[in-house]
Order: sequence, then C-alpha cells, then structure tokens
Amino acid sequence: MASSSFHCLFLLCSLAFFFFVTPSLAKTSFKPKALVLPVTKDSSTLQYITIINQRTPLVPVKLTVDLGGQSLWVDCEQGYVSSTYKPAHCGSAQCKLAGSKACTTECYRSSPKPGCNNNTCNIFPDNPLATTLTGDGQLGQDVVSIQSTDGSNPGPVVSTPNILFGCGDTSLLANLSTGVKGMAGLGRPKVGLPSQFAYAFGFNRKFAICLTSATKSKGVIFFGDNPYVFLPGIDVSKSLVFTRLVLNPVSTAGAYFEGDASSEYFIGVKSIKVNEKVVPFNATLLAIDQEGYGGTKISTLKPYTVLETSIYKAVVNAFVKSLAHIPRVKPLAPFGACYDSKKISSTRVGPGVPAIDLVLSEGVLWRVFGANSMVQVSKDVLCLGFVDGGVRPRTSIVIGGHQIEDNLLQFDLANKRLGFSSSLLFRQTTCANFNFTSNS
Ligand SMILES: *[C@@H]1O[C@H](CO)[C@@H](O)[C@H](O)[C@H]1NC(C)=O
Ligand SMILES: *[C@@H]1O[C@H](CO)[C@@H](O)[C@H](O)[C@H]1NC(C)=O
Ligand SMILES: *[C@@H]1O[C@H](CO)[C@@H](O)[C@H](O)[C@H]1NC(C)=O
Ligand SMILES: *[C@@H]1O[C@H](CO)[C@@H](O)[C@H](O)[C@H]1NC(C)=O
Repeated sequence: MASSSFHCLFLLCSLAFFFFVTPSLAKTSFKPKALVLPVTKDSSTLQYITIINQRTPLVPVKLTVDLGGQSLWVDCEQGYVSSTYKPAHCGSAQCKLAGSKACTTECYRSSPKPGCNNNTCNIFPDNPLATTLTGDGQLGQDVVSIQSTDGSNPGPVVSTPNILFGCGDTSLLANLSTGVKGMAGLGRPKVGLPSQFAYAFGFNRKFAICLTSATKSKGVIFFGDNPYVFLPGIDVSKSLVFTRLVLNPVSTAGAYFEGDASSEYFIGVKSIKVNEKVVPFNATLLAIDQEGYGGTKISTLKPYTVLETSIYKAVVNAFVKSLAHIPRVKPLAPFGACYDSKKISSTRVGPGVPAIDLVLSEGVLWRVFGANSMVQVSKDVLCLGFVDGGVRPRTSIVIGGHQIEDNLLQFDLANKRLGFSSSLLFRQTTCANFNFTSNS
C-alpha cells in the first residue's frame, strides 16, 4: 500500500521533471550521490538554523532544524510567491504519502493561494516550540534547489520540482528565531525531507547531522550516503558505532492523526554510567510504554539534554560525588551542578570531568565527554549541561543539542539504525570543518 503510493508519486515526479525543468538545469544530467545543507546555531534562541532554496523564482527560506519533525513546513500566509506551487489534491498519491487523513473541500479564507486551495489535503505543520499552538495546514509541492556533494566538497546545485511540504499560517512561527519562516523536518516519515530527497535523487534513505558548538561557523547536514569528510581530510563515516533506532508507536507531535507513530528518532538507552559506575534509577522509565511514554529520543529543539526528575537527580548526584574534590559554586538555572572553571583541568575533549556513558541495547556505549557534558555559562563557571524534565514527561530522556555538537550522527532509515561518532575532537576535527568551498 505505502510502497505503491510511493511508486505513483515517483512516476509523477519523473514526469513532472520533464515538464518543469528550467533550461539551466536541463543542461546537466548530473545525478548527485549526496546533498549538503549548512547549519548555524542562533546564539539567542540556541536553535539550529538552515536555509533551503525553494519556489520559482527561487528564494532562500530560513528554517529551524527539527530532527524529528514530520516534514518541511513554511509560512504560506505571508510572502509565499511562486509560479510552480501545486496544492496536493485530496485522495492523491501525494496526500497518501504524507499520511493525510483530512481534506479541505472548500477554502473561504482568501482567493486561491498557497495554503488556501479547494480540494486540498491537510497536514499539521508542527512547531513543538510553540506550546500553545497546533497547526492546520495544506499540503503543497514546490521546487527545491540544493547543493550536491561528493562528501568532501560541495558540487553542482541540483533541483527537484515536487518537494512536499506543509503550508501553514504566520502564527505558527511563534518562538522561532528571527527571520525563520518554517521548520525543516528531518523525521522518519516518507514525507520527511531525508526520504523525499532520497526518492527524488535516487539515493539511500540515509542522512547525517553534524552540529557545531560555535555560533559563528557552519555545521552540516548530509543527505545520502557517506563519505562524510571533514578538514583535514578525515572521513568520519569510517569510525561510526551503530545502535538500533527504536519506533515509538504513538505520535509525539502536537497534533496528529490517530494511529500515527512518532516521527522522532528514539534509541534504546539501557542505563547511564558516570565515571564507569551505573547510576541507580528505575529503569522502567527507559522503556516506551503502550501510551508512547518513556524512552530516549534525540532532539535538535532542546538545547540541553532533558532528564525525567528521578533520573536527573540520580545523574547529578553521581556526578557531584565523583567530582567531590572540586568545590562547587552556586548553581545557575536551569543547571543543578556548577563549578569554578579554573579548578577543572582541560583536555582535548573539553573540561576534564568524569565521562557520562549512555549504555545502549547492544552493550554499545555512547560516551559523553566534558565538551558535551559541561556548559561554560560564564567566564569562570562551568555547569553540568543537563536539565530537569519534571515528573512523568512524555519522553524520559531527550538528548539535546549541546550533547550532540561536534558528534556526527548518521540516521539510516532503511536499516533502522543510528551511527554515531562520539566526540570529533578526539579525531582532531569538528563539525565546523566541512569544506564548504566549492571546487568549481
Ligand atoms: C472554493 O470553491 C467555492 C465553491 O465553488 C468557491 O466559492 C471558493 O471561492 C473556492 N475557494 C478557493 C480558495 O478557490
Ligand atoms: C514560547 O515558549 C515559551 C517557553 O517555552 C512558552 O511559555 C510560550 O507559550 C511559547 N509561546 C507560544 C506562542 O507558544
Ligand atoms: C518503576 O516505575 C514504574 C513506572 O513508573 C512503576 O510502575 C514501578 O513500580 C517502579 N518500580 C520501582 C521499583 O520503583
Ligand atoms: C577546500 O576545498 C577547496 C576546493 O577543493 C580547496 O581549494 C581548499 O584548499 C580547501 N580548503 C582547505 C582549508 O583545505
């Protein structure tokens, strides 16, 4: 069922490609192996921002990266102008691919325009940072143009005419960084950007993110297979460790259709160690229950890892105990354990503090070193960068941005596994070291 709708869509894509290619693109029959997007960190919101060129004529659209987001969505209420926009008609292969179960038969809010067309199916553009809103939007398609790569440098810019996305209202942009016009959803669904790019360009359903800790340099997202090469010529994909991606059968989005699974990426953390010792807490919290509660996910929308209260307390306790010889200073919210940074040595992988290990299903360890566990909150103060997520949060552990910076994470959707590098600082490179300089 799902795969047949994909085939239909793919046919439409290829047909449409013949009709919609612009002369400049028609010249090349170049087939990319992979694509790249630059990612920066907004220093005030701590959101990860990328830019995608969309529409005809092309415009750069600034987007907040949502690793677990269902799809791309943008504000269509203001400033959406494009001669190639196409609404997805109710019952079409596009609507099926997006899992839409709702249809706007007649839109009366305005004359026909992107976001308000008759006989168009709906999806929910989700902004998890705007707690008070749930979106309603129309499914549309438009041209997206993106840089290809050989894994080491950017290659030719390539275009695809029919990237599906949610067309939402301006109010959905609440709490997003200045200038941002939507979100780039990199989630599991077929309508997620990784799957759509894979179908459009015929490569494997794999992507990798490498976020930078610096707010003045660029991290990178790769769509497609490795190599993933960082200066000075280090192919990080050669040393990934793998763990299973876990499906949460209940959607974790603000609005969803009944029966939808979560579009986010969960992994099977079995225990946590501090300084090689298992931290005692109730491990039931690490499993996903029938209502979709519990478990561990990775999110680019949380700046720091969020732990359910009892886990948080246990981890902070264990950490403080193993660092008892260093005097603590007054904690600075939202952190619980802070130290005088002059009293902590520094190592290649950041402040010299006890390692924190996420012990994964297969006995595999994800080791978090000082650069990812500690946050420099001021010149003299370093804090343990984990925050308290309260009692009975939806997800027990949300691994946030600070903990994945300068680590490369590869999401292999077809094989349902996550490849992770641990700190690239060990390998004498960083996520800011992809050479965005073009050869041509
Ligand atoms: C939708 O159809 C109705 C009835 O034909 C019409 O009045 C309305 O203007 C149409 N709306 C749009 C956005 O096309
Ligand atoms: C923006 O985020 C804050 C903090 O999480 C939240 O309290 C507020 O409701 C959000 N604003 C909207 C419009 O959702
Ligand atoms: C662990 O947590 C689960 C779910 O919250 C609870 O049912 C169980 O009783 C707890 N076990 C212990 C030993 O506290
Ligand atoms: C980046 O790649 C370009 C093009 O291949 C090359 O000329 C340049 O020397 C590279 N930059 C560094 C710092 O190696």
